[in-house]
Amino acid sequence: MSHHTYRALELNTSPSSEEQKNDLHKAHFQSLPRPSTPLPPYTVRVRVDYASVNPMDGKMMQFGNVFKLPEPLVLGFDFSGTITEVSADTASEGKFHVADAVYGQNSQGGCFAQELIVSADFIANRKHLPPAEASCMGIAYCSAVEPLMMVDDLRARRAQTIYVAGGTGGVGFFAVNIALIHGLTVITSGSKPKALQALRKLQQEKGHPLHIIDYSKEDVVARVMELTNNRGVDLVYDPTYNVASFIQSASVVGAGGRWLKLGPPGQFGMNDQEAYNIVARRGAEAGYGDCARYWFDPVYIAKVPELVKLMAEADELYGQGKLHVAISDTVPFEDGKLQQALLDNAAAKLMFKVVTQPSA
Ligand SMILES: NC(=O)c1ccc[n+]([C@@H]2O[C@H](COP(=O)([O-])OP(=O)(O)OC[C@H]3O[C@@H](n4cnc5c(N)ncnc54)[C@H](OP(=O)(O)O)[C@@H]3O)[C@@H](O)[C@H]2O)c1
Repeated sequence: MSHHTYRALELNTSPSSEEQKNDLHKAHFQSLPRPSTPLPPYTVRVRVDYASVNPMDGKMMQFGNVFKLPEPLVLGFDFSGTITEVSADTASEGKFHVADAVYGQNSQGGCFAQELIVSADFIANRKHLPPAEASCMGIAYCSAVEPLMMVDDLRARRAQTIYVAGGTGGVGFFAVNIALIHGLTVITSGSKPKALQALRKLQQEKGHPLHIIDYSKEDVVARVMELTNNRGVDLVYDPTYNVASFIQSASVVGAGGRWLKLGPPGQFGMNDQEAYNIVARRGAEAGYGDCARYWFDPVYIAKVPELVKLMAEADELYGQGKLHVAISDTVPFEDGKLQQALLDNAAAKLMFKVVTQPSA
């Protein structure tokens, strides 16, 4: 990073016909001018230490600016970093200072960059989480904690049973952790052998009430029913964005229970109606989690402080040894390598969380 410019991975919104042929070229590294002070109200400038890869980054490379975010658009939606400047109103409030270690999310993207100007509303102080782990909290952790603690409330479900589909995924692994922290018996699924092994290690080391199903080899519905004496589970959380999984997870919710998925019904034309029908037939209630609504919907924008408080508590839970973060790789912040990781992540080829280090 020079005094005047910083490196960032920008979405290529008008690729040439040649570049169109290869998704890898639909994002490119750019040297962008550093915005001059003063900062906009209630923002901080951050040197980005780590940013995490989320499926939406690779999906935007494939399908374009689906969230209609302001362009030019730098990809990357969560980060950890060090504050280098605070806006005048933020400084007078005294919550954030220059040199503070922070983490959070940015609804406008911009985290795959050496520098980021971000709303002080969406960040938290980092004391216990290492910087790589902290960069995974803004999107994946929030997408697990929001449905489980704001849509539902696991504090009232101690000793109940939950099925978390895809515990080997970025969001799913956090959901497994949160449910175990609140004393639920957890049944989860996945298929990648190394990721299943990591889940078994968590189960063995901590003696957690955790049952693990390999959905590529076992019948998920039969196995969950066997584990629950044919009652079905009290709560389901399915963050897989996968219709086959939605149908399976809907089929294991018990009467009077609750089925939660990630993402609004029918998002991106997904045909999830059959899963909703199954939930209704089983006498259960359906609902969903969605972090993106805290960016656009006034009803949820009003609840941002509640979501950010939960995100901030992750630091404390990690410090107490209760929250585990699984990072499978640190991808170089280099042309070609980062774009490939984004596409691989969107194609579900990677496991748990993958991060990059823009300021290394
Ligand atoms: N609306 C929002 O606010 C929001 C926020 C964050 C993410 N998302 C979306 O949520 C999805 C998940 O994100 P992520 O970061 O967790 O992705 P991820 O790391 O790729 O995880 C996907 C998980 O789904 C599992 N899976 C796939 N098919 C399955 C099946 N039939 N049964 C059980 N599990 C199955 C995979 O297991 P294996 O890999 O082991 O096979 C993997 O664990 C993505 O589509 C993402 O775009 C939405």
